[in-house]
Amino acid sequence: MQLLDIAIDAADAAAEIIRERAREARSIPWQVKSHSDFVTDVDTSAERAIRDVIHRCLPTAEVLGEELSPNVLARGGVTFVVDPLDGTTNFLHGFPAYAVSIGVAIDGIVEAGVVLDVPAGDRYTAVRGAGASKNGESIRVSAIDDPSKALIGTGFPFKHLVHLDRYQRQFAAIVRTTSGIRRPGAAALDLASVATGAFDGFWELSLAPWDVAAGILLVREAGGVVTDLEGNEVTGLQHGPLLAASSALHTWLLATLQSA
Ligand code: IPD
Ligand code: CA
Ligand code: CA
Repeated sequence: MQLLDIAIDAADAAAEIIRERAREARSIPWQVKSHSDFVTDVDTSAERAIRDVIHRCLPTAEVLGEELSPNVLARGGVTFVVDPLDGTTNFLHGFPAYAVSIGVAIDGIVEAGVVLDVPAGDRYTAVRGAGASKNGESIRVSAIDDPSKALIGTGFPFKHLVHLDRYQRQFAAIVRTTSGIRRPGAAALDLASVATGAFDGFWELSLAPWDVAAGILLVREAGGVVTDLEGNEVTGLQHGPLLAASSALHTWLLATLQSA
């Protein structure tokens, strides 16, 4: 079985659990992991279901998963990088922007990824060197090259308030120079939106490998550029800031954020 197919089966298993529990989402108890960071038994059950599918198909694979194994290092061999529920806060409030995200790395390079938009039922996939698609149809980043026409996605530094001052300056710079900013609240879907061209770019100051491993590959395979905020390449397996954009606007967006 191909690695992407294993990731898709695993994401489908998680989505089934999430969909089932969505009806009662507003009465599910939350645990607080840290400031504004919540976890429920839906997150952990979904991650367990993902692990089961992966290990049934590939018993030796490692899993770097947000809730159950966040400290695994994706170095040698096959590592699945798993966010069982990206957008937990949205899920708990019944706001329809949450997803399952699974990237697959071999020897530290992300080779395949799937982001499953659970409420919409849309599946985004990518394989390194073979393109990206949404529900089987090839996708491409935006061709808009005029910043004043651009729509930019972002994530607020709500968990890491230390970034807030810098973020607010960047926010002001982007508000002044583009046609709008959106903050849906699930980074994996934000990256999928860059890959389809719905967003011309996206930035956030603190993200984890499970938020971005699959989404970065989607953007790159759809013709976009992904770096940190210094303009350095990112692997998708590190924690830190992220900037993803169409090739037409990445340089401009990087310079605008850096000068803010
Ligand atoms: C969060 C979402 C959110 C982003 C945060 C992430 P979670 O993931 O992707 O959009 O702003 O940085 O941590 O906690 O819902 O899996
Ligand atoms: Ca996440
Ligand atoms: Ca999560």
